[in-house]
Order: sequence, then C-alpha cells, then structure tokens
Amino acid sequence: MYRTHTCGELRLSDAEKTVTLAGWVQRSRKMGGMTFVDVRDRYGITQLVFNQEINPEVCDEANKLGREYVIQATGTVKERSNKNAHIPTGEIEIIVSELNVLHSSEIPPFTIEDETDGGDDLRMQYRYLDLRRNAVRQNLVLRHKMAFEIRRYLDEQNFLEVETPVLIKSTPEGARDFVVPSRMNPGQFYALPQSPQTLKQLLMVSGFDRYFQIAKCFRDEDLRADRQPEFTQVDCEMSFVEQEDILQIFEGLMKHLFRYIKGIEMNEPFPRMLWSDAMKYYGSDKPDIRFGMRFVELKDLTEGRGFGVFDSAPYVAGICAEGCASYTRKQLDALTDFVKRPQIGAKGLVYVRCDAGGVYKSSVDKFYSQDDLKAWAGRFGAKEGDLILILCGETGKTRKALGELRLEMGSRLGLRKKDVYAPLWVIDFPMFEWDDETSRFYAMHHPFTSPKKEDVDLLETDPGKVRANAYDMVINGVELGGGSIRIHDSQLQDKMFKILGFTEEQAQEQFGFLMNAFKYGAPPHGGLAFGLDRMVSMFAGLDSIRDCIAFPKNNSGKDVMLDAPSEIDASQLDELQLKIELKEKH
Ligand code: AMO
Repeated sequence: MYRTHTCGELRLSDAEKTVTLAGWVQRSRKMGGMTFVDVRDRYGITQLVFNQEINPEVCDEANKLGREYVIQATGTVKERSNKNAHIPTGEIEIIVSELNVLHSSEIPPFTIEDETDGGDDLRMQYRYLDLRRNAVRQNLVLRHKMAFEIRRYLDEQNFLEVETPVLIKSTPEGARDFVVPSRMNPGQFYALPQSPQTLKQLLMVSGFDRYFQIAKCFRDEDLRADRQPEFTQVDCEMSFVEQEDILQIFEGLMKHLFRYIKGIEMNEPFPRMLWSDAMKYYGSDKPDIRFGMRFVELKDLTEGRGFGVFDSAPYVAGICAEGCASYTRKQLDALTDFVKRPQIGAKGLVYVRCDAGGVYKSSVDKFYSQDDLKAWAGRFGAKEGDLILILCGETGKTRKALGELRLEMGSRLGLRKKDVYAPLWVIDFPMFEWDDETSRFYAMHHPFTSPKKEDVDLLETDPGKVRANAYDMVINGVELGGGSIRIHDSQLQDKMFKILGFTEEQAQEQFGFLMNAFKYGAPPHGGLAFGLDRMVSMFAGLDSIRDCIAFPKNNSGKDVMLDAPSEIDASQLDELQLKIELKEKH
C-alpha cells in the first residue's frame, strides 16, 4: 500500500497514529534545524516535518526535495503548535521518520497555486500541470457531480442512456461539419455529429420512449467564450409528448441540479417568454432577466420635430438606467464609443437626463421641447435622477445593439451578480430565418422541428411568419439548452425540406434513412439538448467554458498541448488515397 491516508484526511483525532502519505511537494521551507514540506494530492495538503536532530538522514533527504517531486512519507501525526485555520488538516502535522522519492520533477513552468503566475498559453501547453491546481480541478469535480446528478434524475424519470456513433453522416445543426476520411471507402468521408439529433429520433422510432446521452458534439464554427469546437451535450428525446411535457421534465432537471449541487430551492415555475417579446423588449433570444431595463419604443413620440436621424429611422427605442443622470460627459462618451464599436454597429447614442425639478437635458434638445422629453420620460416611467439612452435605425440591428447596451449598463450598475440565477424559457421561435446573402430560408432550429399547428397553412403562403414548437432554456443571458417537438409525419417533413431548398433527391440522399424510418410508425416525439459545458461553467461562475473542460481547444481551435490539428504522415495519406493540395499557402 502506497498510503494509509490521503493528504486531505488527517485531523486532530488522528494524533499519535503512524501514517503513510503520498503526493506532490507543494513547497518546502527550512527553519533552523527543521524542514517543513507541504505535500499535496487531489484531496488536500498536509504539513510534513523533518527534524535534523531526531532524524538527520531523512532531514537531509527532505532538504533536497524540489517543487512537484512525488514523495511517500511515513511518520507520526502530531498536534501542531502553530495551527493553520485555512486548511482542514491545519491542526496537525506529520513528524516524518521515513521518506521515499517516488519521482523527481523539473521546475514547473508556472507555480501550481490557486493564484498562478502562468499565462493562458503556458497553462494550456502544460494543461496536466494546470489541472493540479485546486481552482481548475474543482471545476472538473463539479462537472463530475453534475453529470452524476443528471444521470440520477433522468434515470428516476425512466430515461435510458444510449450511446450513438461518432462516425456518422452530416447532421444539419447549422455549423460546418468536421469530417473524417475513410480508408476502407476511398474518397468518402464520415462527418462527426454536430449533435445526435437524427439518431435520437431513430431511437424514438425504435420505441425507446425516453432516451438521453451525455454526448460529444463537434461543430466547426468560430469560437467564443461559450463555444468550443468539441463540446458535450446532455441530449434527450421523448415519445408521446407535447411541448408542455418536455418543459416540465427539463425544468425539473434544472431544479434538481440547483437543489443538489447548489443547495438552492427554485420553487417557482420558470417564466416563459415569447421569442417575439424577447426580441422586442431585450433585443436578444436569450435575455438576461436578472434585471429589468426593458426596451421602450419611441418612434411615434419622436416624429415630425425636424430631427432627421430619428425621422428617417424605422425604429427608435431606448432603455432607462436608474440613477444614472449624474453620468459625466466622459461617461456618456464612453457609452457612445461602446455602441459605435463595429461589433455593436450603432451610429450614435442619444441621451436624456432626468434632472432635479422635472428638467430634462438631452443631446437632442435642439429638436425636442421639455414637453416632448417629458412625454418620453413618462413612457419609460423614468424618475428624477434617471438616464434614458436611445438608439435608432433598422429594427433588427438596432434591437441587437440596444440589447448589448442594456447588458453593458447592467454590468456597470452591478445588476448581473453571478450568484443570482434568473431562469426562463424562450418559446415560440420562428420556424425559419431568411438569409439575404443566399436568398433562402434556413431552419432556425433544425429541419426536423415541427411548426405550430395553427401556422401550418402559412408554410405555403408566408413561411417567414410560421412559428415553431421550439424552446430554449436561458439562465442569466446564457442559452443553456434548446429543443423542439419534431415532425413525425413524412409528408410534412417533405414540405419542410422543399421550403429549405432541398430537391427531393437531395433530401432523400441526406435524410432518406430518417424519412424511411418514419414510414414504419414514428411516434409523436420531441426533445432537447443542454450544453453541459455551459451548465457547469454557470454553476462554477466561470467566464469561459474552457475552464471546465479538462483538455480544451484554444481560440484558433488548437490543442497546444497535443499540437493538434497537425499534418499527417505521407503513408497515412497514401492509405487514404488522399493528396493534399492547399488552395492558399499558410
Ligand atoms: P442546439 O444547437 O441548440 O440544439 O444545441 C444545444 C445546446 O448545446 C450547447 N452548444 C454548445 N456548447 C458549447 N460549444 C458549442 N459550440 C455549442 N453549440 C451548442 C448550447 C445549446 O443550447 N439537436 C439539437 C437539440 C434538440 O433539438 O434536441 C441541438 O443540438 O448550450
């Protein structure tokens, strides 16, 4: 046996026991004839003591230990005179009688402490060392616990965990596929699943009734803080259900996680918001409702006073920031710069300060009277001391920009606290999204999503107006999961493919397997998938999902530790009968 206890286990009640610990050297310090070594493992840190007078040989060995050496130490547990209240083992120390170096270590490239001196790149290159740090390991411990609780809840609800293959045919989730060449079928490629969508639908045809899988998904898309090319979904599907059944079950899952992971009871039903309202009042399909500051539209109140910018804009709307009338010129300029950033794209920002005594000061008071401004303020319900911020322009783009400004103001005012959780369902998404560039409709969720019964007739006449039985769960402005009730009728599915611009042959070629399966009795079904990485990072209060993934990719989609992706051997290419000819030299 390498050890009798872990490095996080011993307490005062263990005093006088003879124990053996094993772990990594966190730090060592020599004080006179005594050497103190902190030994660390996954469970904690324990102080080892070496005494030159009592055991000079072992003490000499201890003085040679470097950081991150792997050691084994045997000794007696003693009460510490100088107790450390910060760690659970802080009341004891081990007076070591025997020391074994199990492995030496080079000096690590950064300090393995909670607050490390290692930059991002270095930590990713040596991720296995980064993972020794408490802060990072704790995220993975949380991930394990959440996956465990998810399995427990879904098992209790009769879900079966079924694995689906990773080498498949393209699944249309709207991103680019990662592809894998096949040696046995030269010139042909598998696609890695963007999600197990079609496979879980086939499992419903097979009668599995309730399926889930903690599944790896792959999407070749531009990366952001909440996106990785390879990520994990809690993927679920159910038969003989309507939207309401699904919302209930998965709201239950989220409440279960809050209860057992965070000790938070969420007794109220999650609010539900129509997609159209989310866009109208928050400019986003994933509104952060930890705070209000809803949009107020002003177009009718601003017209005909000679201010061309507002008059020519189809949409004028703003938000009211409570207590911000005291914002200085400099602060207002900073907000103007913020909305003018290319990624936000507004042309300018109009403000109205609601000053003392019912006086309004505005950047456009040349055009608008005090009465006009008072009417605006009235519509916002603005009080003395508030600041109204207004944008105008094309409706969709301006809503998006105002949504960003709202989030920025929420952050500035400290209204987006990490330990406050505001969940909601966004429902009734549109079925299609029009793309100007390619002049065609795309499925907003995916092509298997069913339209609302009452909107089916619009499929032929006005597809842009069709609403889908699709829903997203959003918490604190993060889309944690989404899904839909599926089409289970081959004719309707055919119609859908047609609207999406598939010829019959293309639809057959890509999705023939699903269409054929539906001919053999498909139950009404629907489901949803959560992003596990996003859930864990929300529960851990992280800014990026990378921090809860053991071996993540960087922003260029690279694993710098493995040096992947990388070129492959000529012999491998030969076997695949592939020749590389890059269009552009890199
Ligand atoms: P969707 O595409 O909305 O739906 O994905 C479901 C959830 O997966 C997470 N997610 C991601 N997480 C990290 N990195 C990414 N690149 C990434 N992309 C998505 C999000 C998202 O809400 N098959 C459907 C589900 C269904 O209809 O049942 C699907 O994949 O949290």
